[in-house]
This record gives sequence, structure tokens and C-alpha cells, in this order.
Amino acid sequence: TGLEGWLRYAPLPAEIISLQPSFSHIVALSRSETSPIYTAAKELQDGLKKLLNRDVNIVKTATEIKEIPSSKIVVGTLDSFSLTDEKIEVDRIPDLKEDGYWLSTRKIDSGTTDILIAGQNERGALYGAFQFLMLLAQNKPYPESHTSSPQAPIRWINQWDNLDGTIERGYAGPSIFFKDGAVLDDLTRVAQYARLMASVGLNGIIVNNVNSHCNLFNPTNMKGLGRIADAMRPWGVRIGVALYFDTPKDLGGLPTSDPLNPDVVSYWNDLTTRLYRNVPDLLGYLIKANSEGQPGPLTYGRTLADGANLFARALKPHGDGLVMYRAFVYNHHLDESNLKNDRANAAVEFFDGLDDEFEDNVIVQIKYGPIDFQIREPPSPLLSHLRRTPIILEFQVCQEYLGQQSHLVYLPPLWRTILDFDLRIDGTPSVVRDIVSGSKFDWKRSGYAAVVNVGQDSTWLGSHMAMSNLYAYGCYCWDASRDEVTVIQDWARLTFGSHPTIVDTITKISMESWPAYENYSGNLGIQTLCDIVKHCHYGPSPAAMDGNGWGQWTRADSHAIGMDRTVATGTGNAGQYPPEVAAMFEDIKTTPDDLLLWFHHVPYTHQLKSGKTVIQHFYDAHYDGAKTAQTFPVQWQALRGLIDENRFHHTALRLTYQAGHSIVWRDSINNFYHAKCGIPDVHGRVGNH
Ligand code: GCU
Repeated sequence: TGLEGWLRYAPLPAEIISLQPSFSHIVALSRSETSPIYTAAKELQDGLKKLLNRDVNIVKTATEIKEIPSSKIVVGTLDSFSLTDEKIEVDRIPDLKEDGYWLSTRKIDSGTTDILIAGQNERGALYGAFQFLMLLAQNKPYPESHTSSPQAPIRWINQWDNLDGTIERGYAGPSIFFKDGAVLDDLTRVAQYARLMASVGLNGIIVNNVNSHCNLFNPTNMKGLGRIADAMRPWGVRIGVALYFDTPKDLGGLPTSDPLNPDVVSYWNDLTTRLYRNVPDLLGYLIKANSEGQPGPLTYGRTLADGANLFARALKPHGDGLVMYRAFVYNHHLDESNLKNDRANAAVEFFDGLDDEFEDNVIVQIKYGPIDFQIREPPSPLLSHLRRTPIILEFQVCQEYLGQQSHLVYLPPLWRTILDFDLRIDGTPSVVRDIVSGSKFDWKRSGYAAVVNVGQDSTWLGSHMAMSNLYAYGCYCWDASRDEVTVIQDWARLTFGSHPTIVDTITKISMESWPAYENYSGNLGIQTLCDIVKHCHYGPSPAAMDGNGWGQWTRADSHAIGMDRTVATGTGNAGQYPPEVAAMFEDIKTTPDDLLLWFHHVPYTHQLKSGKTVIQHFYDAHYDGAKTAQTFPVQWQALRGLIDENRFHHTALRLTYQAGHSIVWRDSINNFYHAKCGIPDVHGRVGNH
């Protein structure tokens, strides 16, 4: 099955095993069996058994470590190491940030080797243990002394699971958390999920949907949340919940949910107190309000800060809980006939002026682009507006607009377009990953959240290959400058095996996948061109993009296409960026081709920097993209016999489907624009012949 994901620990060949130290003991510097230190020890034990076929005993807490025979693996926190006879050794470790670890190899005279794993905290120790196992599984050398700390403290997942067991934008079966209005009795999968998360450094999760209105807070479900937290805690994963703003009115019997109303304040205070009794280390609350028809503070004539602060104050007495207030606030009944209307402007319009208004435990959570997880977007301009309010950058591992896990789309190259973008705030270097990590504005808590739609399916995401995005997401939260090629190579080795054909084929297909999908879906920044009106966000439907209130418009007519977002003649959105970036997007000559139609409305005959016209680029890109996708199932054949039949066939089927669907995409989009503008394809491929 695919349940182990990249943590398969497939047996190593005998010649590699013979070169390994014969590990004698795993020393866990903790007495508690629910501590991540003990989890780390158990994971090491399990990993050594599977990889090396060795049975290694766990010894709990020892102060005289040196007396335990070599070769041993010692895992603990820096503090617990300091209480042992290894004190001098750990005193030499360079500073670790929260959740960081030190991994060290000590060769002993007799030819044996000790492995020392010290975490800045318990979670860090677990991360170090996983790092060790993943090096061993790939037969990579152990470092002599290696420290690693995450760049961002917040490395979280948002599940969009409903209490009835369905998942919003879920493509892999029902929820692993909920069913029929309650938390599942059997949370085995939840613990397995936490294991996968921990192995790549993910440390928090919001377990329910931002759109969920159900009663998560009756006594049974409160206890259920406590059980979820208990299942994930040994893996260093903390849980939080998404709240529905109108709960006081809907479920609490109050006449209002006005955030300044004293009864509403007590309602939330009381609910928070009860919740903390069940989940003492609650992460906090995720809030979607005044968005897509949801109520929020604006419904009651209050500011967004009033809304966020209501929850922030309720959390404060209990711990370090945060309010993740989503910047995804917009009106979805926008009038397209007004050429100044622009959904991309909404976040800045709603949040400007609020930077000093939030309690210090409020974080604004911002989607990577101004619209909605499209195939290509510029970074959200709001990323350049908040200085004192820290932020969470929101990605999707869930491929909502990107083929919904039925298409392979390896996402890190897309993420890099956002993470590496220099917003030039105040004319100074302001690369998005440095803003998000907190280093630019000296924020203590900031980072990442990704919407992930794991379900009961034994592949987790409905597709074995889609799991590379979950793995990569963790890697990028830890180090946002990671090279996407080494990430996919590591994942391929861990998931499928180290044979060069496996690694090279998976790397090649993966690296080709995002450009291919962009080519056969929406080009030049016109967005993905999925079906917006039926909300499925799947398959080609360019006509559905316009003539609705959602504001994901293309403004395509028979002569021209694209959103004019300039200050001079358009919606003014380009002007929401800092001056140097604004100037680049304002001018058609300096706007990169791949965002041309995001910022400009141009005739189909407009000539790109490549020398092609816009319409010919559409035609060619769609043929190129579909052609590349045709090669995926063929390339995959190289893995026949090198990996297990089950995963070979499952993936082959998906890639074959994708190859076929890419032709549907190609012809739908090309025929649509051909019919609209009547301009022939210079190669004579498009239209009726
Ligand atoms: C998208 C998505 C919705 C989701 C929303 C959100 O619009 O299609 O399903 O609820 O984003 O992020 O809140």
C-alpha cells in the first residue's frame, strides 16, 4: 500500500548492510512514553529493523551514556544531553533554533560508531531521528556533526474536512478525522498522518474545514478533539480548529455574533476554556470570515481587527494560542461590467490600515496569489503591506485547480516563483521567503500553512505521485531555498527506490509536469481556465471564467484578452505593490510574458517578448503541453519491474489518463479562442478542417 508514503524503509542490500555499524542500543533520554523522544526511539527501532533487519533494544534515560556499549544511538533534547556525561560534547553545538537538531557521528576506536541526536526541544530530537533514518534509507553518509534549524517556526497544515466525513476539495476518499458529525473512534490513520508530517518537520494542523458550520464543540466532539490531539502529540504535532464566526448566533442561542457584544465575548471565552480542558496545547483558531458569503465582523459593522481580536483575547489566558485570520476576504458578487472592479485588490483594500490594530497573537494568513491557487499568479500584494502583523503564507498541496491529483503536477517550481520573488519593500531586498520566515521584519512567529486533502484512500492523496508535494511542502517550510530537483530525487529514492532509472524518470516527469500543465491549461497569466461556475474547478471551461461574480475574469472578447490591472487605465492593482515592482507590472514592456494577461488587456495579435503573438503562443503552448504529457506514461514504462506492480499500475493508469485529458484541454482551449478571434493557427492545427 501507500500508507507509509516516503517512510517505507525498504530493506537495504546486503552489501550496504554489511558496512553499517552493528547498532547495539537506542538510548532515549526521556522517561515518558508519550514524549516525541520516545517516539523517535521507537521509530529508530522500527527503521533499523526494516532497513537493516536488526533488532535493537531501547534503553530509557541514562546519565552514564558512555557506559552503554557502542554502537548506540542516543536521542534526546539538548537539556537532557547536558545532564549526561556527554555534556562537554553538546556544549560545543552551535545555537539551534526552536525545533532544530544536531546529528553527530562518533567513530569509536574499535571501529564502532555512536550516533548522537540532540534536539533543541523534544520535537527537534524526533526530526533529527527521521533525518538519520532518511539518510540511511538512501545510503547517504552520516554527517560527522550537522546542525539544522527550520527557517520558519510555523509549519502547518489546514485540512478542509467536514464533520460529516466529506472533505472540501477532497479527492482521496472520506475524512480520516470525522464521520457522521463526530470524531472517528479509530484514529490510527491520524497518528500515521502525524508521523508523515513529523518526518518532514510539520508541527501543526487545523483539523476542520474553514467552511464548516457544524457543531464541533458539543461535549462528545470536544473529547474527540482531545483524542485527535493525543494521537498527534507524540509526533510533535499540535492541533487547532477553524471557527464559524456566527456560532454564538447559530448554536449559542444568542441574538447576535457581534464581536463587541459582551455576551458574544463570554460565549467565546467560555468555549475556549472548555476546549483547552480537552486540548491543553491548542494551536489556536483559524478564521474565515466575510468571505464567499460567510458572516464576519463586517456583518456587524465592526472591523476585521475587532473580529480577530475577539478570538485572540479568548485564547490569551490559556497559553500561546494564535488566531490565524485569513486574508481571503472578498465579495463574490462582483459586477464585471465595472472595469475598475478587481478581486485581486480585495486583500489589500480590506487589510490596509489594520497593521497596528491586531492583538499580538493574531497572524494574518495570506494565499500565495491575489486570487485563488491558480497555475500562475504574482505574489499577493498584501505580503508587502504588513510590517508589524506577522503572516502565514498559504499554499495548497491539494491540487484544486491543478488537476486534482488526477494529473501529476509537482508543485515546488510554482512555489519557487512566489518564495523567490523580491517585493522590494522600501526599495530594500524583500524576498518573500525572508518575509515569511520572519527575518525581514523580526517576527517571532510566522511561517506556512498548506491546504492538504488526505483521505481514507490508502495512497493518502489518491495518487502515489501527488505525495511528493506533501513531502516537498515540509522541506520548503524548513528551508525555503531548497532546490526542487534534490527534493524530488530524495522523495523518489525513499518512496520507490534508489535505482538510477527510478530516480531519473520520476525527477524528469515531475520537473516537466508544472510547465506542461500550465501549457495545456491557462497561459501567460490568464489563470487555469477551469470551470468556475460549477465550482468543480476541474477540466477546461474558458467560457465559465467570465460573466459571473467570482472575479476570476479573463475579459476575453473577439479582439483582446486579459485583465487591465494597471494604475493608468485599469483596476490599479499593479499599484498595490511597492514602487519598483509596481513599475515593472504597470509597463507592458517590463511585465514578464508569463504574467502578461494577469496585468494587461491586449489584442490576440500582441507580440510577446518571444516574438510570437498571444494567440499563436496559446496554440503552440497547448500542443507542447499535451505533447509532453503524452510522454509521461511512456517514460513511466521504464519503471516496470523496478518497483512493485501495484504502484506501477496505479501510477501508469493516472499518467495515461492525464495524457488523454491533456488533449481534451488542448483542443477545448484552442478551439474556444480560435472561435472567439478567428485567427488561424500558423501551423494549421486548430479549427475545423
Ligand atoms: C477556494 C475553494 C473553496 C474554499 C476557498 C477558501 O475558493 O474553491 O472551496 O473554501 O477557496 O480558501 O476558503
